[in-house]
Amino acid sequence: CGIVGYIGTQTAVDILLGGLERLEYRGYDSAGIATILEGELHCTRAKGKLYNLREKLEREVNPARIGIGHTRWATHGKPEEHNAHPHRDSQQRVAVVQNGIIENYQELREELKSKGHEFVSETDTEVIPHLIADILAQDEDLDDADRFLKAVQTAITHLDGAFAIAVLCVDYPDELIVARQQAPLTLGFGQGEFFCASDVTALVPHTHTVLSLENGEIARLTPLGVEIYNFEGKRLKKTPRTLDWSLTTVEKQGFRHFMLKEIYEQPNVIRTCLDAYLNPHWHPQDNSEVSPINLGLSEAMLGNVENVQILACGTSWHSSLLGKYLIEQLAGIPTMVQYASEFRYAPSPITPNTLSIGVTQSGETADTLAALETEKQRRIALDSKYRPRILGVTNRPESTLAHMVDEIINTQAGIEIGVAATKSFTAQVMGFYLLALELAYRRQSLSLEQIETIINGLRHLPRQMELVLEKQEPIIEELAHEFNDTQDFIFLGRGVNFPIALEGALKLKEISYIHAEGYPAGEMKHGPIALLDAKVPVVAIAMPGIVYDKVISNAQEAKARDARLIGVTVIDDLDASHTFNDILTVPRVDEILSPMLAVIPLQLLAYHIAARRGLDVDQPRNLAKSVTVE
Ligand code: G6P
Repeated sequence: CGIVGYIGTQTAVDILLGGLERLEYRGYDSAGIATILEGELHCTRAKGKLYNLREKLEREVNPARIGIGHTRWATHGKPEEHNAHPHRDSQQRVAVVQNGIIENYQELREELKSKGHEFVSETDTEVIPHLIADILAQDEDLDDADRFLKAVQTAITHLDGAFAIAVLCVDYPDELIVARQQAPLTLGFGQGEFFCASDVTALVPHTHTVLSLENGEIARLTPLGVEIYNFEGKRLKKTPRTLDWSLTTVEKQGFRHFMLKEIYEQPNVIRTCLDAYLNPHWHPQDNSEVSPINLGLSEAMLGNVENVQILACGTSWHSSLLGKYLIEQLAGIPTMVQYASEFRYAPSPITPNTLSIGVTQSGETADTLAALETEKQRRIALDSKYRPRILGVTNRPESTLAHMVDEIINTQAGIEIGVAATKSFTAQVMGFYLLALELAYRRQSLSLEQIETIINGLRHLPRQMELVLEKQEPIIEELAHEFNDTQDFIFLGRGVNFPIALEGALKLKEISYIHAEGYPAGEMKHGPIALLDAKVPVVAIAMPGIVYDKVISNAQEAKARDARLIGVTVIDDLDASHTFNDILTVPRVDEILSPMLAVIPLQLLAYHIAARRGLDVDQPRNLAKSVTVE
């Protein structure tokens, strides 16, 4: 979910709608806003996407200067209007928007019901306005200037779970109270106007001066300024920072969808990453004392690593699988990759020399953050002197993840808006090439010449990615026409390209709603082969290298079952032209680098199949970009 709040001199409704539009990628089941105008609370909500809410709001004139808004990704209660935020108390005096989950809401609800509060939704959030109203009703000191702030503070002490909230009360038309506990919330500072939002993307059109609240902080926004307190009521002194990226990254710039724009941004993202982290003066002959890679990571982080544990979800989990391959094959360090949501409740054993890595595009995924917190606590318990061995890999250096880990690799991809991850994926994988090479250099598991060969290959990738985009997009757009009635797809890959098969399948199912499975090619005969017939296309990633012949044989097995075979291979591969019905080609590269190119035709295939079906590519149903609940 996404929340936004405004207090200042402009029309709140316009600012809130603009903010929600930029937060819509976080959830889009329903949306709503609340404002205070002439001593009354006005609340408008609508089921479905934001334009439904916009349409409703266009029917009325509302010049209010204070308001809160919400775009929802349903957790408790169906995506119906009565479950949409803002939620209010029975007297309609307090309105609340929330991102997160209130775990003890059932108990609170029963308690409040017994006191006469009436509930109209199935959501967990609705308890909050009732609770605040209840506390305000008990506090008779109407002259206390902090009465509203204190009521929210007290209410929070009753809430269990992870949440970020923004609260309005009709009796305090010049105050917007916000609080953060394990869900992101950033404040924006303008001239006589102040903002809050789940993500800075909603703030950049108005201000670049921002401050991210930390867990356990509550803030009061008034037209005069912002005060920040901890949950115990102690006033905190904090300095806002200035964002250094511009609005352009959050606009489509002529592309039909953010996803397509982001696919096209990949070559430049990789260029930026290489410029940032490759040592330009390094040469194997004369510089063996100097590392070819400079990720800026400390000796405490990278020295003497015995094993690596990577935690992630979704597409980031796929880049982590590639990371495992690279760290094991290049640096020779045993590496495990786990779904953060699984690891949380069954963590693998740890040693003092385990390097733990959290990988996340949003930097806010609740499961990944919780898994890393488990790692942190275990380390503290293991050794009285806390060892800084938790590394974050992310494109969001200002995120919660970046603050909680010891050091990060900023993958330089910038913010990604399309819900289906593309540039954040290739940038994470690039982060892993660089990390694996830096570890290989330190441990001397590769010769300097071998390192140089791989680095030269990496330097060619951006141009090669551009060639794939240029040459393949028209072919893929055409090919996409052929799958109008297709209901299932199988993606096969082996070795370094097995994670690409998983990623190709995930992209397709996320945005086209076609069932797709990614499989290690050699495993197909142990199950998925039973699904094959003329209606199930098979995409095989067959890059020249150690597993090439094996993948071709596995593809032949599929062909013998009448499957339509699509091959992702290199330009000059003649064998492939005999095997596959359709060929998507990329320039010839060393096998170890091939995933960076092979993934692009698969991203384009998913994109064009979905776009052709007229689907909402950037905001596919039921998904969200930033999953801040468990
Ligand atoms: C959501 C997004 C995916 C993403 C996953 C993990 O499901 O829709 O694109 O891969 O979360 O998110 P993270 O931000 O941790 O990479």
